[in-house]
Amino acid sequence: MKIENLFSIENKVAVVTGGSRGIGEMITSGFLANGVKVYISARKAPALIDKANELSEKYGIDCIPVPCDLSSMEGINEFVEIIEKKEEGIDFLINNAGAAWGEPLESFSEKGWDKVMDLNVKSIFFLTQKFKTLLTKNATEEDPSRVINIGSIDGLNVPAMETYPYGASKAAVHHLTRVLAAKLVKENILVNAIAPGPYPSNMLGAAVNHDYSEIAKRNPRNRVGTPEDMAGLAIFLCSRAGAYTVGETITSDGGIVKTSTHNLS
Ligand SMILES: NC(=O)c1ccc[n+]([C@@H]2O[C@H](COP(=O)([O-])OP(=O)(O)OC[C@H]3O[C@@H](n4cnc5c(N)ncnc54)[C@H](OP(=O)(O)O)[C@@H]3O)[C@@H](O)[C@H]2O)c1
Repeated sequence: MKIENLFSIENKVAVVTGGSRGIGEMITSGFLANGVKVYISARKAPALIDKANELSEKYGIDCIPVPCDLSSMEGINEFVEIIEKKEEGIDFLINNAGAAWGEPLESFSEKGWDKVMDLNVKSIFFLTQKFKTLLTKNATEEDPSRVINIGSIDGLNVPAMETYPYGASKAAVHHLTRVLAAKLVKENILVNAIAPGPYPSNMLGAAVNHDYSEIAKRNPRNRVGTPEDMAGLAIFLCSRAGAYTVGETITSDGGIVKTSTHNLS
């Protein structure tokens, strides 16, 4: 019951999609700092390679960049094939890469709808399907493999912005998590989701002009999320401590969803 046994993730192998920045980088850094070898993916190869080199040097452990576009089946297949050539098995798959798109309801485009749904929902399903063989190789009843899908509080509450497919895609991620968890728990692969609230990143930054002060003020915890908040939760889910948690969607939002109140009077 020592903390190092409860939370150790040392010597594991992880795949983190969208690991070049934002929430994916936060999880990747937490893994690397605790002895996990991490493969990261993103579309922009130079930024991805620079980030992998920076993190490998900082933490003294392999962070391997695999540039690819996960919004198409070709990109997904290529990504999985590259990892299959390098690893006999993997322990953690973090389905983090995601996109948002905002337009008024009246003119919302099919292009925006498809972009969000293809990356946020379809890629999570097919990545999990295609990584199943590698995840199974390392999965035992005592020490299961893990899949973490990154959802959003926008899939739990109604977002204020006109990002119609985004909230719907994240609600789908949360439910897909339960559906996949029900199937894969029998094969010692535990699937859970994290529903982040506001975390500084390109995606959120674009919506608030990279000024998080107003969002922080409105948050019950009076701040936005930090790398420690995100990495800590991911490490919990991947460690011995999280091995009885299955099919959950856990918010990491400072209390936005679970402390919101109604005033009916
Ligand atoms: N930040 C928040 O407040 C917040 C809140 C709730 C949920 N989330 C969720 O958290 C996840 C990460 O978002 P973030 O905020 O960290 O956003 P971000 O800073 O924009 O990072 C997105 C990552 O995904 C990669 N990516 C985007 N499109 C891709 C594609 N087609 N194929 C492969 N990789 C792709 C990006 O790299 P390239 O651009 O080079 O491809 C980048 O590494 C998303 O699922 C998002 O919905 C974020």
